[in-house]
Amino acid sequence: MLIEKLNWRYATKKMDPSKTVAEDKVERIVEAARLAPTSSGLQPFEVIVVTDPEVRAKIREIAWNQAQVTEGSHLLVFAAWDNYTEERINHMFDLVNEERGIKNEGWEAYRKMLLSSYPQRDAAVNFEHAARQAYIGFGMAVAQAAFEGVDSTPMEGFDPAKLDEILGLREKGLRSVTILPLGYREPEGDWLVNLKKVRRPLEEFVSRV
Ligand SMILES: Cc1cc2nc3c(=O)[nH]c(=O)nc-3n(C[C@H](O)[C@H](O)[C@H](O)COP(=O)(O)O)c2cc1C
Repeated sequence: MLIEKLNWRYATKKMDPSKTVAEDKVERIVEAARLAPTSSGLQPFEVIVVTDPEVRAKIREIAWNQAQVTEGSHLLVFAAWDNYTEERINHMFDLVNEERGIKNEGWEAYRKMLLSSYPQRDAAVNFEHAARQAYIGFGMAVAQAAFEGVDSTPMEGFDPAKLDEILGLREKGLRSVTILPLGYREPEGDWLVNLKKVRRPLEEFVSRV
């Protein structure tokens, strides 16, 4: 059950550098992010899988020296579009038409509506919107990692501008949003592993109308 896996997972603080996550597991974790729902189906983000130890060492330096960045075997970087352009919107709508083999009036009207609003907005507003979509994929990846029995640490604790530089993201029209080291916990060195998972009680969290 998903709930059991979500109780099992925790923001792992110490990973065992001798253990490597199998590629098929990594692929399914990325696939979960790819399958995430996004606003208008635009999927305005990409995932970069970083395994190169040198690159990960550089990233660790700009990520508060968090050890999981190099002690995990893979580092997923979630990077959102820096802006919504006509080209990007058309690409996605064309892909849908191509894959489905149909052209739909309602869909084309919807395309026009987006084309007449998104590209004219401030790039910063568009990036923030795209970043929110990246977070949905990020959450899916966290859940799928747990499902695979793979430990992960969701992270915002890094300097996005510096990470963009290390990975050359701005040139590709991308900006980093979150990172997710994948690996296996090293319980001996992890202060968090045996501590109770704490969440606000349900009655403080949910209300019913
Ligand atoms: C968007 C986001 C950013 C986070 N950034 C970091 C981080 O940089 N370093 C870290 O150790 N944990 C980070 N965390 C982990 C949270 O502190 C953790 O998920 C929260 O305390 C709940 O604990 P749990 O995940 O162990 O259940 C982040 C979590 C999220 C969702």
